[in-house]
Amino acid sequence: MAFLIPEDIIETIRNSADILDVVSESVQLKKSGNHYMGLCPFHSEKTPSFSVNPTRAIFHCFGCGVGGNVFSFVMKRDGVSFPESIRMLAGKYGIPIPEKEMSPSARREENERESIYSVNKEAMGYFKSVLFGEQGKIARTYLKERGMTGSVAEEFNLGFVPDGWDNLSRFFSRKRIPRELGEKSGLIVSKNKERYYDRFRNRIIFPISDMSQRVIGFGGRVMDESLPKYLNSPETPVYNKSRSLYGLDRTRQALRETGVVHIVEGYFDLLALYMHGITNVVATLGTALTRDHVRMLSRCGVTKFVLVFDSDEAGINAATRSIPVFQKEFVSADILVLPKPHDPDTYIRAFGPDQFKMASDKALGIVPFLSESSIKKHGLSIEGRIAVINDMKSVIGMVEDPVARSLYIRDLAHKIGVDEKAVHEKVEEHTPTERYDSDDRTGHGLQPLTIPGKTLSRFIEMERQIISMMLQYPDIIEECREYGVVDYLENPSFKTIGAMIMDYKGNVNDMPAVLTNRASDETTRRLITGLAIGDIPYLYKNCVNLIHQFITNKKKNENTLSQRIRLAEETNDQELLIKLIHEKNVYSKTMKNQGLSQKKIFNSGIGGGRSI
Ligand code: GTP
Ligand code: MN
Repeated sequence: MAFLIPEDIIETIRNSADILDVVSESVQLKKSGNHYMGLCPFHSEKTPSFSVNPTRAIFHCFGCGVGGNVFSFVMKRDGVSFPESIRMLAGKYGIPIPEKEMSPSARREENERESIYSVNKEAMGYFKSVLFGEQGKIARTYLKERGMTGSVAEEFNLGFVPDGWDNLSRFFSRKRIPRELGEKSGLIVSKNKERYYDRFRNRIIFPISDMSQRVIGFGGRVMDESLPKYLNSPETPVYNKSRSLYGLDRTRQALRETGVVHIVEGYFDLLALYMHGITNVVATLGTALTRDHVRMLSRCGVTKFVLVFDSDEAGINAATRSIPVFQKEFVSADILVLPKPHDPDTYIRAFGPDQFKMASDKALGIVPFLSESSIKKHGLSIEGRIAVINDMKSVIGMVEDPVARSLYIRDLAHKIGVDEKAVHEKVEEHTPTERYDSDDRTGHGLQPLTIPGKTLSRFIEMERQIISMMLQYPDIIEECREYGVVDYLENPSFKTIGAMIMDYKGNVNDMPAVLTNRASDETTRRLITGLAIGDIPYLYKNCVNLIHQFITNKKKNENTLSQRIRLAEETNDQELLIKLIHEKNVYSKTMKNQGLSQKKIFNSGIGGGRSI
């Protein structure tokens, strides 16, 4: 724990680990050209779209978009962290890991985290012993009334703390646990550093664990109607709500086996489902679902996400908010709203697991759910249908995949009996011009140039080709460097990858696998593997032509810019003018950088040259 693995050892392991060998442990691969294809282990499919390229040491699934190198594969398959995957592969290939020591400050932080884990564990033991002891009778009665069995209480380490300001504090003193640690763990609260008291008093306690079953925090519920109903640990160095899910430590296996997760909102909801045999479930901890949550679950093998809500209203709000979250992780989700007045806890106790499973199977995808809800709300009068389109245009506009988007448009048009083209226009009116990345793509807060949609997506397509070309045909990288191609890339993801390629110094054959390691997020990693996995027989001439075309287009664009600046001056639109001038400066800088080489682009297209 207290050691870091040196970079060069990671490289050695990556080089020694044979990706075909590792993937073949769990996927049956068949050779197809330079690739190996098989059924993707990360989503269910009948025809193989999971591809391994042994030369580049990467994998990529054309079905669900996952991709990476040998480490990412092990991380995903076994649900382990990056360091763990390194250790596993080092073990498999018999490579010793000489561990390098942490810096003193990193070590201090690590020590602090370790001591918080251990204080939490002590506290959990205390709460649990109280629940099952003399003082816990009232709490046991409460839990029993709510249908909780002793074995689930035991398995989830439920606890109780009686009324009083210092039950836990006194326990800590007996254990010689320093007060500062109690405070750091969030279990002891101080008033002006003068008076100290227990955070949790007279509450049922739900310990929250991470995937390695370390106790990271607690939730506590009152046993009557008093408020607040729930209290939770504050964020600490070991507890981050947006990266933690209640129950995951116990349900991880079931998630892997079924590939399905039910996401609920409450502790009791989770426990009730679990008790009734719905063990593929996790609960959020009072926050909206985050990308980290989705990623964690994907890593556990989840391919189907079902969000469970008590009410339409909660469902609609959360569903709308979670669209970009799921989209950025390339997964889809279903929404299950339970009939009034039920929440998952009361529903499963009233109707049983089979009915719950049936309802879960029938749950609608986010977009269809939202359109059904909107239709239910507004009805199908003329005004109603207009309102539905208004509700839905931004929702469908958020969908990045053009095929999915057009299917949703068709579906909505059909449902409300409106011409598909009209719905299409409304949606496109509301659509971000550029969908590869819905984050601010300029990075400086300015709107992108308002080039008509088509032109822009052609640019982006070209950018995609250029990156793919550099990854698959590294001979061209020097050319791209000379022409300053990366400076011209507009899409932030492609620009990031382009810059990574420019910075890359090692063996070109290892580049894709190394870059997937360096990628800071899943989206970038998937883009890299997706663009690098193919074996397009690039010709030098065609590559140079592509670069030529790309830069010529950029130049044309620059001219258009000048025209638009003149127009803005004439109409005295100051705001637009500032924007355009900014854009122009960016262009001129990059044009200057590639000055002379422009000639070379025009010349080198002729007469062929090298080919591969
Ligand atoms: P029961 O009433 O015990 O069945 O709880 P529930 O799980 O059905 O609770 P509810 O649906 O009201 O809330 C869902 C989750 O939101 C809880 O599990 C808590 O994590 C959180 N929550 C609810 N009420 C409060 C509160 O008063 N304070 C805080 N901090 N969180 C709450
Ligand atoms: Mn409830």
